[in-house]
Amino acid sequence: MNQSVLASGPNPSGAVDVGAPAYVRHAGLIRWIGEIAALTQPDRIVWCDGSQQEYDRLCAEMVEAGTLRRLDQKKRPNSYLAWSDPDDVARVEDRTYICSEREDDAGPTNNWVEPAKMRETLNGLFDGCMRGRTMYVVPFSMGPLGSHISQIGVELTDSPYVAVSMRVMTRMGKAVFDVLGAEGRFVPCVHSVGKPLADGEADVPWPCNKTKYIVHYPETREIWSFGSGYGGNALLGKKCFALRIASTMGRDEGWLAEHMLILGVTSPEGKKYHVAAAFPSACGKTNFSMLIPPAGFDGWKVTTIGDDIAWIKPHHDGRWYAINPEAGYFGVAPGTNDKTNKNCMDSLRENVIFTNVALTDDGDVWWEGMTKQLPAHLTDWRGQDWTPESGRPAAHPNARFTVAATQNPVLDGDWDSTAGVPIDAFIFGGRRSTTVPLVTEARNWIEGVYMAATMGSETTAAQAGATGIVRRDPFAMLPFCGYNMSAYFAHWLRMGNELRREANQSHVPLPRIYCVNWFRTDDDGKFIWPGFGENMRVLKWIIDRIEDRGQGHEHVFGLTPDYDDLDWSGLEFPRALYERITSIDASAWRAELGLHAELFDRLKHRMPKELENVKSLLEERLGA
Ligand code: OXD
Ligand code: MN
Repeated sequence: MNQSVLASGPNPSGAVDVGAPAYVRHAGLIRWIGEIAALTQPDRIVWCDGSQQEYDRLCAEMVEAGTLRRLDQKKRPNSYLAWSDPDDVARVEDRTYICSEREDDAGPTNNWVEPAKMRETLNGLFDGCMRGRTMYVVPFSMGPLGSHISQIGVELTDSPYVAVSMRVMTRMGKAVFDVLGAEGRFVPCVHSVGKPLADGEADVPWPCNKTKYIVHYPETREIWSFGSGYGGNALLGKKCFALRIASTMGRDEGWLAEHMLILGVTSPEGKKYHVAAAFPSACGKTNFSMLIPPAGFDGWKVTTIGDDIAWIKPHHDGRWYAINPEAGYFGVAPGTNDKTNKNCMDSLRENVIFTNVALTDDGDVWWEGMTKQLPAHLTDWRGQDWTPESGRPAAHPNARFTVAATQNPVLDGDWDSTAGVPIDAFIFGGRRSTTVPLVTEARNWIEGVYMAATMGSETTAAQAGATGIVRRDPFAMLPFCGYNMSAYFAHWLRMGNELRREANQSHVPLPRIYCVNWFRTDDDGKFIWPGFGENMRVLKWIIDRIEDRGQGHEHVFGLTPDYDDLDWSGLEFPRALYERITSIDASAWRAELGLHAELFDRLKHRMPKELENVKSLLEERLGA
């Protein structure tokens, strides 16, 4: 850790000596840091080296400041708990902007403000916003250091919580500068909690500002974030860079940045497949990425490459290779337990930063759904006494854990491979209590893109607003696509065409596309599908299809397995219930297509003709 004190602030020329360590050779980077320091006026600058000592020291400072609480060393070794400001608990989609030069390039699903106007607003907000604080220089690589798929970013932040979280979530530290060299490309990310301290003013445990802006400039590949210290608003490598900015890079450079987990699945014969799967929040994405095959599936193994984001690049062997750009998991804690996700619980035994979960009286953590038996007494996420009679959740519904991927007991051996892993299938899924069958294979690439583009999911209690409303969430990218959604569909179609050409030449099969829905309910509103581990049965059918073995029946939307096409080893699941979760109800599908039409109308400018054609075809099939 290298520290420079800016006692006298910027000199009259406006330049600031940022105290760059000798190993930093990038003049453009040093100049940019000087400009940001001159604007934000921190008291000192700390260059993070990513070492364990630095992490421990920053955590100790935050314990001292009241931002973190050290958990019991025996129960939860080297772990901490943070409670945020109650107004800073989630991503703020309505304060998130894509400031492209042209409004049409942001498209109807993004907030847009003219870049020059936004720069003026932000220059005002950032002017002196780090006074009394430290600016941390956080160099990070999204993806394995040196991979041709990886990208470098540098986040300037006045939050030590962000600095330590970035060490867990990314490959952060000194080695990044070796890859960057003197002229390498990096994404500049500027972050402030937006709470300058006047001379002698005491700090609060979780500084933030009621005014929040999460801003992306896609043409110049910059990110500016003001006012929040929480999650995707502040850890700028995640949603801001790895999805919004990276999707724009992918559009321009011929690759894909997707809101997808990546898993490896190995058969008892030792053959390995790789699947990338997109789900909106609260659809069991983490569980799927760490799936434990159920009884009856001896010899099958599922391993995690990534739990949230995939960067996918075509290779000249006709396949698409994916990396997980992240190095840690920032997952939702409530609902996680030894039954729903044992591997995740095992990942959380030590070296974790928890945020907004409850504190037990013996210095451990607890959240709703963690144990059947409720603790008799807790301190809730707002620091107040809690008992089962309190009538309110002890953990915030969006409470999180931040943990290194290396703690995952089923981490895939290739998770850090610079080459990435070849993708055999894409899965898209939402939470639908009706209409959408358990699993459907798209008949071709274009129908698969249509499936993903029209994905919908019912809102849950974890999201603001009414529950049970179907929100269209194309590719699970609605809040994360950094450009016009219809142009994004066109990019998927274009990439598919190129892939088909390459694959034909190399005689390799195209990845297949599937739509899944684990969430159909019975008349009492209970889930019919017996649990996340059982998803292995669907995964096995998908592999059977890849191997040209699996069967099914065709319906209006694609191909779905019959009862006897799934492997039911170790589970008694009645045929009648299976029919119930795979049935196609014509009137529900008519209504569904009506909703697709609404989406298409909203996105009509730049909507690819091919997708309009699929819709007409489906309407025809439904009418026939
Ligand atoms: C996440 C999300 O936090 O998708 O991963 O909201
Ligand atoms: Mn996500």
